[in-house]
Formats: sequence, C-alpha cells, structure tokens
Amino acid sequence: MAHLTWKDEYGVGVASIDEDHKQLLAIVNNLHDRLSEGATAETLAQICDKLIEHTLLHFGREEDYFEKTNYPRAAAHRLMHEQLKQRLLQFRGEIGERPPPLGKFVFFTDWLAHHIVGEDKNLGSHLNAQGIH
Ligand SMILES: [Fe+2]
Ligand SMILES: [Fe+2]
Repeated sequence: MAHLTWKDEYGVGVASIDEDHKQLLAIVNNLHDRLSEGATAETLAQICDKLIEHTLLHFGREEDYFEKTNYPRAAAHRLMHEQLKQRLLQFRGEIGERPPPLGKFVFFTDWLAHHIVGEDKNLGSHLNAQGIH
C-alpha cells in the first residue's frame, strides 16, 4: 500500500473539511510507515488512538453540517461514518500485544479516498450551494 497523497481532486470546497481530510491523511501515512517498519504495538496503539480521535471529531463536524443545513443524504452518510468507525475500533482492538500486518489497515486508506471523492464531495456541493465554503 502506497502513501495516500493529497490531490486537488480530493478538495470538497469547504475549508474546514479539507483541513480535516489533510490531517487524517497525515496520520494515516504515519501509521502506514510505523506498520511497515515494525514499530511496537504501543507506538501503533498511540497513533491509532489519535486517528480514532481525529476521525470522530471530523465525522462530528460533517454531521453538524447535516443538521444545520438539512442535508438530504444525512442518513446514508451517517451510516457510512458509523460503519467505518466500527471497523476502525475493531482494528484498534486487534493491535493488542502484537501489531497486525500492514495489509489489515488498507481498508481505512481505501475507504477514506473513496468516501472523500464520493459522499463528502456531495456534501461539499450542498454546503457550497448554501454559501458555506
Ligand atoms: Fe463523510
Ligand atoms: Fe470526511
């Protein structure tokens, strides 16, 4: 799995959401590097906790926008967040004493890239139409 590099096409047109996504990518790439170099379970757990914290803050930010702007796709989008959250918590649980193989983390990177260019871009267009940038 390669690093996930920020590309202009990931921009959703809302500054706070783009900043969150960039920060998530940076944490994901850090976790990727540590997994590749065989870091200790303790180090991985720390980074994973940070990733969970930022992910949940970010989902909360998007979901606040759902509420404030009556977003029509709120239910489906919220469900995607919930599913990813469960997988991430499951991955965190697997760190335990021994670090899981790098391949076990690919789901998050794939999910993030697809979710940003799909669902989050829909949200971005909706917010832009309401004057939020
Ligand atoms: Fe989202
Ligand atoms: Fe997002």
